[in-house]
Amino acid sequence: MAGIDAARTTAGPAPLTAAMVADYHRDGFLLLPGDHLPAELLAELVEAAPRVLAQQGPQRVLERDGVTVRSVYGPHRTDPVVARVSRSAELAGAARQLLDDEVYVHQSKVNLKAAFAGDQWEWHQDYINWRDRDGIPRPDLVNVTVFLNEVNEFNGPLTFIPGSHRHGLLAGTDTDGMPAGYEDGPNWMATLTATEKFQVDRAVIRRLAEEGGLVSPKGPAGSVLMFHPNVLHASSPNLSPFDRGMLLMVYNGVRNAPRPVASPRPDFLADREVAPIPLAA
Ligand code: SIN
Ligand code: MN
Repeated sequence: MAGIDAARTTAGPAPLTAAMVADYHRDGFLLLPGDHLPAELLAELVEAAPRVLAQQGPQRVLERDGVTVRSVYGPHRTDPVVARVSRSAELAGAARQLLDDEVYVHQSKVNLKAAFAGDQWEWHQDYINWRDRDGIPRPDLVNVTVFLNEVNEFNGPLTFIPGSHRHGLLAGTDTDGMPAGYEDGPNWMATLTATEKFQVDRAVIRRLAEEGGLVSPKGPAGSVLMFHPNVLHASSPNLSPFDRGMLLMVYNGVRNAPRPVASPRPDFLADREVAPIPLAA
């Protein structure tokens, strides 16, 4: 892959152009085409997804129906193909450009958004959880998502308010207790369900959407969507007959390592091993 011209302090692969980096910082998200990853690696990843989703254990979260798999957390730690994808020059190199720092994976997950049954993600920003629960000092992280199926207007695409990340953390209400359907679950489950624990004020969402509009990036399997931890985002339930599987990896900069917290989340939700991913120069 050609190294291009984005200004940065880290050496190594640079899959993003300076214009792409600028677009990301302006909008808070960036969609790369379906051929960004080598075809063989993408094929292996698509093949690995059912294996990840079949994992048993606390890292697997079900929908409110108690049957459908919603997410499996931490596959960069447990699945060799996801580990390889997470360390690839195409993804880790791009994250490094956007953060201008060496990177490691703070969190990963496969969100299935199953045909007919995959539930919503309410409007939210990600960073509030990573700050308050994991002790990450600054919003210098980036979500890097690989579409495992085609994502279209029918199967619950992520929807963003462009530019909303530039407003920092937004006003809202931290709800108490556990969401309906998860009353007996562990405390850390509260931020992973179809009901957001921290509810951003609807008046704020409306104002930002009136200013910035709404965008739902769509594309074939293999498309790579990168988004900022403070960009306001949501996704609708999947009423279509087509799954909307996505691998999401949250890269953090090593200069932004988590500080100690009183009750660290399980390591499948917050990886506290801050070892930079080695990328050839
Ligand atoms: C989704 O899978 O649609 C939402 C994921 C997220 O908010 O990080
Ligand atoms: Mn999110």
